[in-house]
Amino acid sequence: MRHTSEKKQSPLQITIGAIFTVTPTIAIFQVIAAALGIGLLSYEPILIKSLFDSIENERKYFVAKEFIKSEIFYNFILVASIWILAFIVNIIQEIIERALVPAAQKEVQNKLFQYAISQSPTHLTNTSVGFITQSIKQAGAAVSILITLLTYDFVRLFIMTGMMLYVSTKLPTVFLLIIFSWTIAYYTICYWFAKKTFPKFKMFSNVGAKSAGTISDILNNVDLVRSFSKTKDEIHVVNCELNLEKEASEENRKYIILMNLIVYGGAILFQSIFVFYSIFLLNKGMLSLGEVALAISLAAILVNNASGLCRQLLSFFEQTGYLSNAIEAIGNFEIIETSGHAPNKEIKSGKIDFQNVTFQYDNAKLIFQDLNLQISHGEKIGIVGNSGAGKTTFIKLLTKRYKPSTGIIKIDDVSTLEISEEYINQNISQVSQDILFLNRTLAENISYGCESVTQNELLNVLEKTQSIEFLSKLTLGLDSTLSQKNDQISGGEKQRLALARALLKKAHIIVLDEATSAIDVETEHLILNELSSTFNNKTIIIVSHRISTLKNVDRIIFIQDQAQVFIGRHDELVASNKSYLNWMKSQSM
Ligand SMILES: Nc1ncnc2c1ncn2[C@@H]1O[C@H](COP(=O)(O)OP(=O)(O)OP(=O)(O)O)[C@@H](O)[C@H]1O
Ligand SMILES: [Mg+2]
Repeated sequence: MRHTSEKKQSPLQITIGAIFTVTPTIAIFQVIAAALGIGLLSYEPILIKSLFDSIENERKYFVAKEFIKSEIFYNFILVASIWILAFIVNIIQEIIERALVPAAQKEVQNKLFQYAISQSPTHLTNTSVGFITQSIKQAGAAVSILITLLTYDFVRLFIMTGMMLYVSTKLPTVFLLIIFSWTIAYYTICYWFAKKTFPKFKMFSNVGAKSAGTISDILNNVDLVRSFSKTKDEIHVVNCELNLEKEASEENRKYIILMNLIVYGGAILFQSIFVFYSIFLLNKGMLSLGEVALAISLAAILVNNASGLCRQLLSFFEQTGYLSNAIEAIGNFEIIETSGHAPNKEIKSGKIDFQNVTFQYDNAKLIFQDLNLQISHGEKIGIVGNSGAGKTTFIKLLTKRYKPSTGIIKIDDVSTLEISEEYINQNISQVSQDILFLNRTLAENISYGCESVTQNELLNVLEKTQSIEFLSKLTLGLDSTLSQKNDQISGGEKQRLALARALLKKAHIIVLDEATSAIDVETEHLILNELSSTFNNKTIIIVSHRISTLKNVDRIIFIQDQAQVFIGRHDELVASNKSYLNWMKSQSM
């Protein structure tokens, strides 16, 4: 059973979570290095002041000393030492960052992928895979930038602002007041503007991920597109979506230009007035040359800092916007335990028991009502019925993809509610109606359900499913890539490979849902005979529309519309059930 409660994390929780997954100690080192680097640099104006003061003293009083022994040289060495030390600390910080950011980026993507893969089947089928993929990748990149912002850029900014306020105390108090009020006003305006970009970036990320979803959907179904001569139309569809992305990006940029105009304009205006005021005071003899140098250097650093803040806040809201979109794309932030306790009882025989099972999909028609049936260990069962009657649903209930609305399903006398979905799937080998392959080699695809497989086992199962002949025609044989779109292999051949994959899994229950529908009757007969003799001690359930497929089963489950289910041997059903007889006649027409 899957949990349905919505659990989400905020972008900041995800970022901080990523830091903690890697190790918070590295992040603390990064903060220290950032603070140290900027702390050193922000001392520069004071040292520059001393340098200028010593130059002025030299000029005024002409203290004739050897240059190397002069105060000018001493002050210069101090300034240069600050530059060199700050440079070294910056390098160290970059080394620390290397250990933190890529690992956190990986962890976030990994975690989001785990959340995504454990979503409810409905969420996954309703959301484009390309959309989720793009969102996960964007989230990884966003987290890496956010970590740098939080542990480096914002720390530097904070320390720098504090240091600048301290440095300004070396000037007349009015300078401290000007800087203090300007900093508060400027930072507030920056924050206000930047915050407004959050929904814009979120929207941009959303349209970007949507277009990625559309592109991957079209490329995944390229055969369908071509067979309906829709290539041009799909190019048009993608073009329209990319246009939306372009427009969203233009809108963002328009806003950023406006923001820069106001915010940078304000900074430059401040710098000009600040410098002019200090020169004015110098002229009046109220400031020394050193103090003017300090004021000029202070103003330059402040403006530089302010424009940095503006960029960083923008980046912060941009990345949280991207992350926020990813959070919505994923849906539920919970690694869903496909619940049930760990099995304390192994599935050994494959006995199945449906007890009073009633089921319907959300707000849809009733598929089963009070269904009671037992399938014994080793029994061969056929499931038949019209399209949409509920045959695949029966299997989805057995494999715990869905939970009965009421009633219990037991495997080997244990309720499936008490067994994890993972354990059930380990013990049921299934060939579903839609054959799926991963974009990997044929050998990897066929041995997908096994920990390890020998070449002999592989060949043996390929022989049983009549696959050797067509595989020998492939140049790369078992190393050929087998994807959904592989058109070197026919539909029936793909079904045979899917059968081989299911048989290799060595499960106690084998479920074949229309698994041989594309295989000719003669080959199907050979495969099913082989299957029955090799797996005569396994429970086999075969869903089929073909009467010939069901020739050798022990009993048949006939599912009719309106949730009516009949069970019996073929001859019993023919003799006692008119609907079954009619259904059978309609199939042989
Ligand atoms: N996830 C779902 N949500 C809502 N309705 C569903 C869902 N899956 C299937 N159904 C509906 O439930 C009914 C039974 O579907 P099911 O796939 O079990 O039919 P089936 O007997 O296997 O049909 P077919 O022979 O065409 O494969 C159908 O009407 C189908 O549209
Ligand atoms: Mg079906």
